[in-house]
Amino acid sequence: MEGSSSINNGWRICILASFIGAIILVFRLKHSSNDISLLTVQSLAATAAPSNSSEFNTSAQSPSPAAPVAPSEINESSTSTHDEYLEKKPVEVNKEKCNIFSGEWVYNPKESPLYNGNECPFLSDQVSCRRNGRLDIDYEKWSWEGKGLCQIPRFNATDMLKRLKGKRVVIVGDSLNRNQWESLACLLYSATSPSRAHVDVRSSTYKVFKALDYHCSVEFYWSPFLVELQTNQENGTRNNILKLDEVSASAKKWKGAHIMVFNTGHWWVHRGKIKAWDLFQHNGKQVEKMKLDLAFGIAMKTWARWINKHVDKTKTTVVFRNISPEHKDKQWCYNRTQPMKDESFIATFPESIVQIVEKTIAGMRTPVKYLNITKLSQDRIDAHPSVYARKQKQALIAKQQQRQPEIYADCSHWCLPGVPDTWNRLLYASMVDNSSSNCID
Ligand SMILES: *[C@@H]1O[C@H](CO)[C@@H](O)[C@H](O)[C@H]1NC(C)=O
Ligand SMILES: *[C@@H]1O[C@H](CO)[C@@H](O)[C@H](O)[C@H]1NC(C)=O
Ligand SMILES: *[C@@H]1O[C@H](CO)[C@@H](O)[C@H](O)[C@H]1NC(C)=O
Repeated sequence: MEGSSSINNGWRICILASFIGAIILVFRLKHSSNDISLLTVQSLAATAAPSNSSEFNTSAQSPSPAAPVAPSEINESSTSTHDEYLEKKPVEVNKEKCNIFSGEWVYNPKESPLYNGNECPFLSDQVSCRRNGRLDIDYEKWSWEGKGLCQIPRFNATDMLKRLKGKRVVIVGDSLNRNQWESLACLLYSATSPSRAHVDVRSSTYKVFKALDYHCSVEFYWSPFLVELQTNQENGTRNNILKLDEVSASAKKWKGAHIMVFNTGHWWVHRGKIKAWDLFQHNGKQVEKMKLDLAFGIAMKTWARWINKHVDKTKTTVVFRNISPEHKDKQWCYNRTQPMKDESFIATFPESIVQIVEKTIAGMRTPVKYLNITKLSQDRIDAHPSVYARKQKQALIAKQQQRQPEIYADCSHWCLPGVPDTWNRLLYASMVDNSSSNCID
């Protein structure tokens, strides 16, 4: 499970699988009329409204300040509750390999950004900081470097496309994984002739990038809990049920993918108005209150069971990306233009959730690579959309209301190009030959 040792597992040779799921509309980006296509796609992408207007989806679209978690809802000492269902398996640590997740940010305008944001026409407003009027752009120019003699491979989009030939990548999770999907789609698009790329970003719950010449696709499935949230709205009253024993309904579409990248966590700690569920369902019973660790542990077990049952580990690589840090309260992202240096990040996300994830994947029969990006992202207080998560006009309005930037600034997601490009670079690094992630001796 430790980052470097998981790389040793190597990347498995995969066979061609059929694409699942119908694509309602495909944007064909014509090389010959590039400018017009760009505009068309931009405006379509910008007006793409959530297909479902329930509170569940609406809140997904906006930066969601995580409400503080009531201490009583976190049971710090409940780790034994989820121990019982995990097969005990020691975590292997190979100290001779590089840990690509340990390193430093280096200002390097030659190597970064990895693509030009203007040339990624389907990039959403939420993350298009430059397009929305952000003028300080140094946040695009930092490069993640390994420690000492560790050399992390540069991202090579053409090479990644070759490796993905005939394959399907699915990215499943919340808006932070959508952020990662947008990044990967832009990275690969930058090496694709626009007429040979198909991109569909209209739906908020499903997105796809296809490189036609490589017969490969990268899809995003919205599933912030990984287990099923049943949304019920009747006569203005809402009764949303989080089904801890049932994997997300979209899971049937994940099947057969060659690479699966998951995340979850952020939505579990939501409280107050943005909390998505009203009741938990477990063992046929519905309850209003359950300890966060207990509910999360059950859900992770449900997810793990699905993976063990439906994933052929000789054909599919499963990746879990850990928590993306937010910069709020005392370490506010607003107005920050440089990464944090020598400042210790004050973590607000419950550590117990991270531990449950790590225990779960360490105990699974199917190997899971851990995309351990929390720490490296913590320094990047400068790289959130902040007030540039909207178009300039709206951002300006927000600026006039700066007395409460916490309402208008997004310090959860990341500007693109930006930090998620590094997550994808590390995903790529874990795909390339084992030796290239090693220390140079
Ligand atoms: C994740 O990365 C951090 C920073 O390198 C490291 O301290 C931590 O032990 C890693 N966690 C796991 C489970 O590998
Ligand atoms: C990127 O990969 C392609 C295809 O494997 C290769 O031809 C090219 O030299 C690589 N580029 C760099 C800069 O390494
Ligand atoms: C942000 O920066 C502007 C311009 O430097 C300054 O006027 C404003 O007071 C700053 N706001 C905060 C909350 O730091």
